[in-house]
Amino acid sequence: MISSARIRRRVAELGHLIQRQVGREELSVVAVLNGSLMFTADLVRHLSLPVHLECVRLSLYDGKSPSREGLRVASLPPLRLHGRTVLIVDDILDTGTTLARVVSLVAARRPRRILTCVLLQKNTARPAAARADFVGFRVPDRFVVGYGLDFLGKYRNLPHIAVLEEPRR
Ligand code: IMP
Ligand code: MG
Repeated sequence: MISSARIRRRVAELGHLIQRQVGREELSVVAVLNGSLMFTADLVRHLSLPVHLECVRLSLYDGKSPSREGLRVASLPPLRLHGRTVLIVDDILDTGTTLARVVSLVAARRPRRILTCVLLQKNTARPAAARADFVGFRVPDRFVVGYGLDFLGKYRNLPHIAVLEEPRR
């Protein structure tokens, strides 16, 4: 769906757009693992400002304990975000549940400003629970893998983004 060359060009553009928005402030980048690993690693190398890099990991609710949001945080480091400008980076915005959860976690640390960036945003009919200030690519409502995105833990290492086809019967 999206070649590695197109990803590379767009990530550089996003870096410039983010840099223009942030100016010369220090920036705390919060990467949502594992999906945004490659994206964040490439993106921060296009930012020539003082960057602090932090990671959070969210995983899908395992079905064994009650949870209304359907998501749990498996690890939240002691992020020092008070008064800072924070850029949250995720791989893909679909329903927005994940991003909304991370935004609220970050907001609880009382930063000065929160910006959000996703590599992909799915074109869906339903409204998303969160919005992204920076979007790499808008994609159709298909299941995609590669460049950090997985299916059951596989395909994250593909250098491009591909649609996962249903097996033919
Ligand atoms: P949301 O919480 O519905 O916005 O979904 C976002 C999360 O679901 C992402 O961080 C991904 O981990 C996962 N996800 C959603 N759509 C896809 C997809 O097409 N491929 C791989 N992962 C996806
Ligand atoms: Mg994810």
